[in-house]
Amino acid sequence: MGPVGIGFTAFSKPVREKILRMKKAPRQKYPLVTELTEAEHIGMVREIFSTITGKYDFLNHLLSLGRDIVWRRSAVKKMRFFRTYRFLDVGSGTADLAIDATQRHPCIQVTGVDFVQEMVDLGRFKIEKRHLSDKIRLVTSDALDLPFPDNSFDVTGIAFGIRNIPNKIRALREMMRVVVPGGQVMVLEMTFPRNRLMQGIYHIYLNRMLPNLARPFSPNPVAYYYLADSITHFPTPEGFVRLMDEAGLKQVQKHSLTLGITHLYIGTKPMSPKPIQSTGTVKPASSR
Ligand SMILES: C[S@@+](CC[C@H](N)C(=O)[O-])C[C@H]1O[C@@H](n2cnc3c(N)ncnc32)[C@H](O)[C@@H]1O
Repeated sequence: MGPVGIGFTAFSKPVREKILRMKKAPRQKYPLVTELTEAEHIGMVREIFSTITGKYDFLNHLLSLGRDIVWRRSAVKKMRFFRTYRFLDVGSGTADLAIDATQRHPCIQVTGVDFVQEMVDLGRFKIEKRHLSDKIRLVTSDALDLPFPDNSFDVTGIAFGIRNIPNKIRALREMMRVVVPGGQVMVLEMTFPRNRLMQGIYHIYLNRMLPNLARPFSPNPVAYYYLADSITHFPTPEGFVRLMDEAGLKQVQKHSLTLGITHLYIGTKPMSPKPIQSTGTVKPASSR
């Protein structure tokens, strides 16, 4: 799939020109998320994940110094299965969260959903290699329109995926719809620190070191500038808790991981959810 493959015509002219210039000069960055419409942001996410699939796992572990493995395990440890014994992994990518969940909870069935076929294919390959095909199935679908009836799962989780979804509240409501009352909605996501010193260090790491570390390995190293951009523009932990509250989740908790560079958020679906109203937005951490 070439860099101008997916939904290219959906981009506005200036963004199309920027992507074409970037293709000619691969060191040039993707447009900032703040410059994009929702449709353009989604098109860019599809584009990025379809081009970095092959080295995705390796670079995840390298760039986080293996912490991503620990962070997923923290989420899996807090999962509670009590009725359907089913877990839904949203934005499942190469299926690491799905695989970890079956290893910690051998009695469950897992479904993973991702809208990038290349990620789904690699996930299926890993699942077969681990002989887990009877426990995990992957579906190619959009997180905003999950192909499951209401109340189908005890737990649904999204690991490092929600920052790639512009309409976060809609994604959270869709996740809440498919879990049973009393079930958990979990979000694992990276956070831009608020301590000024940490911000400086993290900014250099994200914007200078990370793309350069990725360059020798990734077929699309500039995608790692997008990683920096998407983390910088993610809401603060308090802002994200408010967003989960607004989506209708109850008893929302946040757990800080590795000095707060990642947070695990857990909300519970109420026994009788209120009817859905507005779709609010929360300011990103960088604009506070
Ligand atoms: C950073 S990766 C995370 C993958 C995996 N969860 C992990 O822990 O490594 C984000 C994934 O979310 C997927 N994604 C983003 N937006 C999506 C959407 N609207 N519907 C389905 N998948 C989406 C991307 O295709 C990508 O595979």
